[in-house]
Amino acid sequence: MMLSLPVDKPLFLLFLAFSQVVFILILYRHGASSLLQGFLISPQDSWDYSKTHNVYTNLSAFTLHSDGKMTHCPLKSPILVGPITVVFTKLPSERGIVKKNPYVQSGGQYKPPHCLAHYKSAIIIPHRNRELHLRYLLYYLHPFLQRQQLQYRIYLIHQAGNGTFNRAKLLNVGVKEALKNEDWDCLIMHDVDLIPENDYNLYICDNRYPKHMSSAMDKFEYSLPYWSYFGGVSALTPGQYLRMNGFPNTYWGWGGEDDDIFMRIQLAGMAVSRTPLNLGHYKMVVHNRDKGNQANKKRFTLLKRTKRIWKQDGMNSLDFQLISIEEAKLYTNITVDIGDTPILPPEKSKETWTFL
Ligand SMILES: *[C@@H]1O[C@H](CO)[C@@H](O)[C@H](O)[C@H]1NC(C)=O
Ligand SMILES: *[C@@H]1O[C@H](CO)[C@@H](O)[C@H](O)[C@H]1NC(C)=O
Ligand SMILES: *[C@@H]1O[C@H](CO)[C@@H](O)[C@H](O)[C@H]1NC(C)=O
Repeated sequence: MMLSLPVDKPLFLLFLAFSQVVFILILYRHGASSLLQGFLISPQDSWDYSKTHNVYTNLSAFTLHSDGKMTHCPLKSPILVGPITVVFTKLPSERGIVKKNPYVQSGGQYKPPHCLAHYKSAIIIPHRNRELHLRYLLYYLHPFLQRQQLQYRIYLIHQAGNGTFNRAKLLNVGVKEALKNEDWDCLIMHDVDLIPENDYNLYICDNRYPKHMSSAMDKFEYSLPYWSYFGGVSALTPGQYLRMNGFPNTYWGWGGEDDDIFMRIQLAGMAVSRTPLNLGHYKMVVHNRDKGNQANKKRFTLLKRTKRIWKQDGMNSLDFQLISIEEAKLYTNITVDIGDTPILPPEKSKETWTFL
């Protein structure tokens, strides 16, 4: 049977036009804010990633201001180049990185020496047994952030002991400790193995909504693995973070916590602002899954509870033991004991799926 569309009926055409307007409105409800805020420079439609620049290019233009009267940095950093060359062929030495970043101070902190920064961002990296990835990240991230004329500090949140890894809980710890240091404008949650590939991908927050930055990772062929993906690198203001009671503390092992975070954002009445795919390029340092970070088999069960318990599981239920805070040359190393997987009581067998 042929389906004939009544395209000649004016009412139908009106309906078509109307549904397109609705579609565009839905699309831009979340999209427009990300285009207007958080990206001061409207991103180009297409970047040419076959033409890349060294991340240290022209960084030496930012030298000490001589006459003592500093003014604000220009809103658009004058040395941004777009696509950055990222390769993992030769592991840089720590001494080498220190030498190439003369203005980075103890604890991995930096303020532009030539102007007053507009933004203060804390970079928070959950960590254990990933020293080589960390080295690559520091080599690329320090000059990357300086290119953007930010005031920043890199925090490593190091999970002590051999217990199961808990990324989201480490991030909660990082936020709590970082906010004791400084009144940060923006908290950047950063996986240790992801290197940004475009310096127009600004490490600042979107004041409206939590921003997902690693929208195009090489391991997913530079696209989103699924539409609600929130893993990798994201940026939240302290206000946004507290509004959703931070992240869950109850996801031990690999997976699930980022989906929980995505749900919390909606439950707290916010939406996700997504860095455009052509800008959110990241390269991942290849590795096998670590010991002590096996896939979390409970993750799907846990996700069913999120709607019910997000207000009780998060920043307001965070408990941990601070073991040490060391100011290394290139980062602040915060070592914590966050405990280990609790033995959960068996879940009731007939639980209904209550997604959002
Ligand atoms: C570096 O700065 C110089 C001088 O301002 C400029 O001519 C050159 O284009 C810059 N290089 C890049 C890659 O932007
Ligand atoms: C962790 O594991 C290593 C190697 O298996 C062992 O030497 C070390 O004592 C363990 N540490 C703790 C705190 O259990
Ligand atoms: C961080 O500090 C802890 C405790 O001193 C130490 O065991 C660990 O190796 C440090 N990690 C890094 C990457 O500096």
